[in-house]
Amino acid sequence: MPVRSWFPTQIYCEPLQPKGLARFNAELAEECRRLRDFDAAGRRWSKANYPGGYTSYASMNELHRFSSTFAQLETRLLRHVRAYARALELDLRGRTIQLTDCWVNIMPPAAAHSLHLHPLAFISGTYYVATPPGCPGLKFEDPRLDRFMAAPPKRADAKPAHRTHVTYPAEAGQVILFESWLRHEVATNRVEAERISISFNYNWS
Ligand SMILES: [Fe+2]
Repeated sequence: MPVRSWFPTQIYCEPLQPKGLARFNAELAEECRRLRDFDAAGRRWSKANYPGGYTSYASMNELHRFSSTFAQLETRLLRHVRAYARALELDLRGRTIQLTDCWVNIMPPAAAHSLHLHPLAFISGTYYVATPPGCPGLKFEDPRLDRFMAAPPKRADAKPAHRTHVTYPAEAGQVILFESWLRHEVATNRVEAERISISFNYNWS
């Protein structure tokens, strides 16, 4: 075959751990809802910037430093982030990676999260805490989409890897990791229950 693929965009998706997820997620969900009740500044920020939903992104984004449940999540995430960094073949010898920010997102019915990326980080991701059946997944955009200019559209039956978007279903207990420059969004939640996730950023030194 004369055509070869280069410059892959790699996305990681794995369960956080093999067992005990239901109990851990119940604890996290309770803590996320308590945080929303407590975090008036976050609710104000969300009203202006995250319509219909709640995020602690701008108010309480170092939850792993203040909550033992979130610190446990940090411990459990580490092997996934290391595995992902290995898959990306990043040279982290003699370097350390740190979880810098970690925040809660609660999307009630009708909330959406528009297209964005995660500045000031190299690996970002989401852990799913509560995902009612039918809630929206995480939709990634081909990072070259803005350069396609005059290209014709892709065929409807194009291979998944050749399409301009891919959506990972949101499933409680799953960890999704991506490189922080990769733009993504969450469509409107059209089910009558809250979708809860925890997002995070990693940096290295
Ligand atoms: Fe995000």
